[in-house]
Amino acid sequence: MTDPLRLGIAGLGTVGVGVVKIVQQHADLLTARSGRPVTISAVSARSREKDRGVDISGYDWEDDPVALAKREDVDLLVELMGGEDGPAKAATEAAIAAGKDVVTANKAMLAHHGQAMAEAAEDAGRVIRFEAAVAGGIPVVKALTEGLAGNRITRVMGVMNGTCNYILTRMQSAGLSYDEVFEEANQLGFLEADPNLDVGGIDAGHKLALLSAIAYGTQVDFGGVALEGIGQVTIEDINQAAELGFRIKLLGVARLSGRGLEQRMTPCLVPANSPIGQLEGGTNMVVLEGDSVDQIVLRGPGAGEGPTASAVMADVLDIARGIRVSTFGQPARSLVAANRAAVATAAPYYLRLALRDKPGALAKVAAVLSDCGISIDRMRQRSHGGEDAPVLIVTHKTAAPSLQEALEALPRTDVVTGHPVALRIEDV
Ligand code: HSE
Repeated sequence: MTDPLRLGIAGLGTVGVGVVKIVQQHADLLTARSGRPVTISAVSARSREKDRGVDISGYDWEDDPVALAKREDVDLLVELMGGEDGPAKAATEAAIAAGKDVVTANKAMLAHHGQAMAEAAEDAGRVIRFEAAVAGGIPVVKALTEGLAGNRITRVMGVMNGTCNYILTRMQSAGLSYDEVFEEANQLGFLEADPNLDVGGIDAGHKLALLSAIAYGTQVDFGGVALEGIGQVTIEDINQAAELGFRIKLLGVARLSGRGLEQRMTPCLVPANSPIGQLEGGTNMVVLEGDSVDQIVLRGPGAGEGPTASAVMADVLDIARGIRVSTFGQPARSLVAANRAAVATAAPYYLRLALRDKPGALAKVAAVLSDCGISIDRMRQRSHGGEDAPVLIVTHKTAAPSLQEALEALPRTDVVTGHPVALRIEDV
């Protein structure tokens, strides 16, 4: 029997406890699969006394995660504290400097410091793996890095924040407002400590930026993700979109073309009968497209104790087996700086306008759209009781600058009241 792989676990929240449980409950299976025992030497968390429902008395305790990372009896730091900087970053850097490998679920840290950390790890002959950072239990990092390694990746797309998908699907099924469902999600404990990480699209944007780096061989460029959260999505738009045969999703899309790297995490309309359109509740879905494989769709739980710990253990087992893949699938110094696309690829758009009900109003709207080079695919005016008529327009493919021009021009007419709503329709 070869030497055990000895873990130091920093962070004993939901995921950390899940990892301890797998190590304890599946010891035989882990040894059989990797050819060596996987053991825990020491753990670290904020409170030593807290009852976590799992026996940690057999492990040494460290108050300081940096001290944990440097211990001689730790081969691999499992970083599950979270947070972009602070203790997570300090412990990860300390582990690499001390010659340990690192497995982390920390998307924020890698989205901001991934390039420097990957370079430091490689210089030290160590690896940093992060399956659990993206889409919880879905093995999407492995799928992109290994399973699709022979493809030129043409598009990465997905719903990668379960909380947002829960909110949007629950608004539709229960006919509730955003604020009502947000509060419900809060009561259910779905939201991150800083809810804006979820509903502001930041958490999902971090995940997309990490997948882009692997897919396109670019340095992680979270700053290049066009981010828009779901706070402005109304039940009215959800219902109108449904009547037109669409669903509204917080959708991430990354693609590299001659125009550069385009990364978006924004509310979009997708066909209701598409796999993404049918995704309900807190589940995640990632769609990967490559020149040889065509398209694969991965669906599964994006958060929670078991699923996220499952992803952590996949990385731990790779390291136990001696599989040492570069953090972003190729040597860190060969990753090139992302060349950001100046504008998004043209797409059809959903527009909702409130229109004064008077002769010629629709003609004025049509004239503005025509002046901006926007062609109408479908248009619908609802019967209405009040002064303003709700008008829905689906455009043909429209360049983003043309849309912007129209959105600025429409409120300047004397027939459009308020601000028009515009949502991109993504071809999924
Ligand atoms: N808060 C995330 C979600 C899980 O709701 O999907 C952690 O990234």
